[in-house]
Amino acid sequence: MRPPQIVALGGSLLRPEESQNRDIWFGKLRQLAVHVEGNSRKLGIVVGGGLPAREGIELARNLISNPDKLDQVGIAATRLNATIIQQVLLDIGCNVAPVIPQDTGAAADYLEEYNIVVMGGTQPGHTTDAVAVALARDCAASDCIIATNVSHIYDDDPKTNPNAKPFFEMTINQLTSITGVDRLAPGDSAVVDPIAVSIAAKHHINIAVLDGRDIDLIEAALDGKDFDGTVVRS
Ligand code: UTP
Repeated sequence: MRPPQIVALGGSLLRPEESQNRDIWFGKLRQLAVHVEGNSRKLGIVVGGGLPAREGIELARNLISNPDKLDQVGIAATRLNATIIQQVLLDIGCNVAPVIPQDTGAAADYLEEYNIVVMGGTQPGHTTDAVAVALARDCAASDCIIATNVSHIYDDDPKTNPNAKPFFEMTINQLTSITGVDRLAPGDSAVVDPIAVSIAAKHHINIAVLDGRDIDLIEAALDGKDFDGTVVRS
């Protein structure tokens, strides 16, 4: 049987500016889950912390200086968001694990029993990007999809440099030279978490980065079709 497929869903995707977009997005996510199950495939979904993570870390930052403790606040938010996705998919009758696994080994075990497993963060020191790549490793999957709110990996920050160029394909070494290898501070964002990149490089996991606001892109990537985004070869 083919290994499960792994998708990291950035937490910002759950809270778009327009609530109407949110309803459409959740509707299409449900359709995607049904489509994956209908094709007898398995799916591990790792959900980011988004707004509650940023708010919680901001609130605690003035009181707590230890980064591991602030990361725990972020992890709690990722599990909140994971629970929302888990319950939405359970509600339409998908075969979803009834728990939010706390580590990727347990999640890989649940994927043997259930079609879909939803989880959030695991330990301090990285983001859910790294959790998703570690889950791919533990499931013997060769690819990990990172669905975020940018369309591609760029050679510079497109928000500050209008001439930044998107990559359509790149090597993991090129990505490492952009992200570096250092741990992100609690609540900090990067196009891909450096720790995720180092796990992918070590275990030869390819990464696809795409704009998860468009569920069709996630579906195309899962179906092995061409999609607009960046493929990182490891
Ligand atoms: P996220 O994974 O949500 O960060 O974790 P992100 O990728 O920057 O944001 P999204 O994808 O847009 O939501 C939020 C915070 O939770 C802690 C870190 O502090 C991180 O910045 N965290 C998360 C951990 O410490 N460990 C984990 O496994 C996951």
